[in-house]
Amino acid sequence: MSTTDEAIKTVRLIRSPVSIVGMVLTTISAVVFLVVFFADLFGMHSNPYIGIVFFLILPGVFLFGLALIPLGAWIERRRRAAGRRASEWPRIDLNNPDHRRVAVSIFALTMVNIVIVSLAAYRGVEYMDSTQFCGQACHSVMKPEATAHADGPHARVTCVECHIGAGATWFAKSKLSGTRQLLAVSFHTYSRPIPSPVQNLRPARDTCEQCHWPAKFHGDKIQRIAEYGDDEKNTESVTTLQMHVGGGVERAGAAQGIHWHADAANQVEYISTDDKRQVIPYVRVKDRTGAVREYVADGVTPDHLAKGERRRMDCMDCHNRPSHQMAASAERAVNAAMARADIPSTLPFVHREAVKVLKVSYPTEDAATEAIAKGLREFYRGSYQPIYMSRRQDVEKAVTGAQQVFKRNVFPEMNVQFGTYPNNVGHMDFPGCFRCHDDNHKAKDGRKISQDCDTCHKIE
Ligand code: HEC
Ligand code: HEC
Ligand code: HEC
Ligand code: HEC
Ligand code: HEC
Repeated sequence: MSTTDEAIKTVRLIRSPVSIVGMVLTTISAVVFLVVFFADLFGMHSNPYIGIVFFLILPGVFLFGLALIPLGAWIERRRRAAGRRASEWPRIDLNNPDHRRVAVSIFALTMVNIVIVSLAAYRGVEYMDSTQFCGQACHSVMKPEATAHADGPHARVTCVECHIGAGATWFAKSKLSGTRQLLAVSFHTYSRPIPSPVQNLRPARDTCEQCHWPAKFHGDKIQRIAEYGDDEKNTESVTTLQMHVGGGVERAGAAQGIHWHADAANQVEYISTDDKRQVIPYVRVKDRTGAVREYVADGVTPDHLAKGERRRMDCMDCHNRPSHQMAASAERAVNAAMARADIPSTLPFVHREAVKVLKVSYPTEDAATEAIAKGLREFYRGSYQPIYMSRRQDVEKAVTGAQQVFKRNVFPEMNVQFGTYPNNVGHMDFPGCFRCHDDNHKAKDGRKISQDCDTCHKIE
């Protein structure tokens, strides 16, 4: 046996090309995973749907690489047992001009490749973080939320700014839920409507309070709410509310306002017993003086409370629809459209008729668009022939206005109707503030969480 044969035998089996490919794959996937993980930790938010890369593809590549290492060794052992020479690597001699040229071009091409791949990856991440991606990639699934978002006060705030943030646990949480969602969309197993992710949302401190400063709320905010009657004249009645939105700053013992709950100096904790947090039988307050008060609803037992979810109150317990507001009822939506003059309030019975066509349940948006136009035109052509002839433009405006109301609030494909998602600001359409402010939550000393109208607003 020659000395070269001896040497070849001692070459470790895992030096085979297949094993080396395995090692390269394992290393690359591990490095990519760590780089993105740390980027996220240090505040470069990334989209939850990259989760599919993180929880499926990268580990897949990693495991595949791991499996290749022993596989390569096994193949190599068999080659040698069959008496064949161990696989050999090409010998590169940089003194040879041909070898040198090839080596230099391979190096240059690799560098170019790295730059191209990184740029592509960066653009990919950037795109996935955009509102466009979130709202449109899953098209009909997120249509209700994307439509409301585009029409709301936070249209310029990207989806990820509220739904995701930096931090290790949120990284895992959001990536995992993103992966689950993507699979659900691929296999059409998602729920319609999508349930509100109240349990998975980040605390407001990390999202809302990055832009809004709770200590700075002050003064009153005027709300003008117009309603129209079902009579021929669509008689208008207006409620003006002076909302006491202050509350952040302690001012010389004066009564504070609505944002008292959100001031860091006051801790309001509650227990809710349903998953939409609509039933709140227990509230605990620790105010800025350190005094603690516990309010319990009539007839609630400790057993009942033990099953509930305990939570510190924040912005989202009232503003649960900051960027996805949808009208609570067809009446509300038509009132708002008439107040904006999107539906002309000078057309006879337009309130009653618009509400009527909007209350029907349609199978698709297209069916609704058609039926709304037909319903309104037929009403005016039949009952108000002269108006239909002389004010055709107004009738068409009412048609477009009513169709707009539908497209903005109702999404048949997702089973989203008027009022599907409760809004907690207010108390007329949903329990809202009255979940606690019902004069029925009492403390041991007889204090109640007040329903006195003037606590929250002055009505004119
Ligand atoms: C200003 C913050 C904010 C922004 C921006 C935002 N969301 Fe939301 N989103 C929320 C909150 C809060 C909820 C929880 C709603 C609830 O509990 O009723 C929510 C709920 C949802 C839901 C669950 C279904 C529902 O309607 O409750 C989906 C889906 C959703 N958002 C998608 C999006 C998409 C897509 C975008 C971007 C086009 C976006 N969100 C932008 C705050 C935001
Ligand atoms: C990236 C910054 C940003 C974040 C994050 C953000 N907001 Fe806002 N928000 C704004 C801006 C800017 C406005 C004012 C828009 C305007 O006046 O048209 C606004 C307006 C509002 C309003 C008033 C809406 C109205 O109709 O007058 C409410 C309520 C509100 N935000 C609540 C929230 C809540 C709750 C969250 C967290 C879920 C949140 N915001 C997160 C920037 C932000
Ligand atoms: C107890 C319920 C409640 C909590 C908690 C709460 N808000 Fe409000 N907020 C309201 C109400 C009610 C209004 C007035 C709504 C209206 O009539 O438009 C309001 C108004 C606002 C406005 C508009 C103010 C203006 O002057 O135009 C913003 C912005 C806002 N809230 C942000 C927040 C943020 C951010 C948080 C968390 C730090 C928060 N709110 C916590 C109930 C609440
Ligand atoms: C989770 C229960 C809960 C909900 C929901 C809630 N509140 Fe309160 N609210 C309280 C408690 C508790 C107090 C203080 C009672 C005390 O001082 O011991 C309070 C006090 C107030 C005060 C008086 C603050 C002061 O001291 O001057 C206002 C104003 C107010 N709430 C407005 C609202 C509005 C508006 C909403 C709905 C958008 C709302 N609250 C929803 C629990 C709640
Ligand atoms: C805990 C705070 C709170 C209390 C107490 C309260 N309200 Fe309100 N009220 C609100 C909020 C918040 C809204 C919603 C304002 C908005 O639409 O932005 C509202 C809205 C209204 C509206 C307008 C409804 C509409 O059509 O949108 C009326 C009317 C009203 N309240 C009457 C009352 C009366 C009467 C009482 C006394 C029995 C009362 N409220 C007690 C917080 C309160």
